[in-house]
Amino acid sequence: MTWHLIPCGPQDPLRVVVVGAGGMGRAWLAAVTASPEAELVGVVDLDLEAARRATADLGRLDLPLGTDVVTLAAEAGAQAVINVTVPAAHHSVTTAALFAGLPVLGEKPAADTMARALSLAAASEASGHLFMVSQSRRWNPHLFALRDMVKELGAIGTLTTDFFRAPHFGGFREEMPYPLLADMAIHAFDSARFLLDADPVAVHCSAYNPKWSWYDGDAAATAVFEMEGDVRYVYNGSWCSPGAETSWNGSWRVSGEKGSALWDGENEPVLVADVRPAERPRSPYSDIAGSLHAFVEALRTGAAPMGEVHENVMSLVMVEASVQSARTGQRVLVDEVLQQAHAAAVRAETRPEVREVLLGRR
Ligand SMILES: NC(=O)c1ccc[n+]([C@@H]2O[C@H](COP(=O)([O-])OP(=O)(O)OC[C@H]3O[C@@H](n4cnc5c(N)ncnc54)[C@H](O)[C@@H]3O)[C@@H](O)[C@H]2O)c1
Repeated sequence: MTWHLIPCGPQDPLRVVVVGAGGMGRAWLAAVTASPEAELVGVVDLDLEAARRATADLGRLDLPLGTDVVTLAAEAGAQAVINVTVPAAHHSVTTAALFAGLPVLGEKPAADTMARALSLAAASEASGHLFMVSQSRRWNPHLFALRDMVKELGAIGTLTTDFFRAPHFGGFREEMPYPLLADMAIHAFDSARFLLDADPVAVHCSAYNPKWSWYDGDAAATAVFEMEGDVRYVYNGSWCSPGAETSWNGSWRVSGEKGSALWDGENEPVLVADVRPAERPRSPYSDIAGSLHAFVEALRTGAAPMGEVHENVMSLVMVEASVQSARTGQRVLVDEVLQQAHAAAVRAETRPEVREVLLGRR
């Protein structure tokens, strides 16, 4: 798709409002402040005191604050929005911003359900404004190096991620029905698509909550995906696993025709094969700085960035298909999940112009 371009970059920094001043919102405030390509012009949070504390810690008590993105963005002359609210608010905040004429860079997940993510993809088309999802872990230079290795291994049989950590977050994660799958595994699912350059076809997933878990929902899961090209992707993780923790990226293994590649998620990946990967360009920025740079570039040039919502929904569908499989105990076909989500999106849509896009009429 195409979107309205904005002449922005280091000479003319993109004026952005950050919405959501919680833990990750603070990381975004720092990233925008550090970027030569963007300028922070306001902060929005339903909790004005949280916004005030975050701007005070940033040493920017001069910044305008508000509780409504559209109002504050207009007052501050913003050109774009970074949505770092809780997942349940992603759909309403992003839709309001897009239809106020503001492109959006949103934290993962695109939305709290696939249906609402499809609504956002259609809202992006209907409004003509870019909606990009920040999958920060995709911009890791080591992941780029691992992808280069994958290209040299011939046919790929299996890709695996082990993820074992024991964080105590409090807040929304400890109340979600599937915290690991919905809030964390999406990073690995998205990276798996990137590494294999393949989308998911089907999944069988078992989710469970160890008896010592401090989460209400299932904090552990094992999912086996059938990916395009007949590759198996196996995700095995737990968010209540003290001791011998993996990195936040997880621990990866690629098993291919000509050898294997290993990545601990923190250091350079290791190739165990008699081949030499070609040197290809890596991401110039890592983490959310990578997402921000790609967003600015996409607004300036019109080139589709990784994370553009139409591409990104294929990572979110891996979450929804896994949850459906965990609930039913059945192998779940991704196409069926997409069809169900589309039907639900059409039923729930309240904006006529978005509904028309969902129905393929514009
Ligand atoms: N990329 C990563 O590595 C990473 C890490 C942590 C969190 N995240 C994502 O970032 C997002 C935020 O997570 P968090 O940990 O900062 O959550 P949080 O609960 O700490 O903060 C969320 C903030 O959003 C505000 N908010 C909620 N609804 C709002 C609305 N409608 N309008 C304005 N403000 C609203 C809340 O008051 C709160 O201050 C989530 O989508 C999460 O998945 C990503």
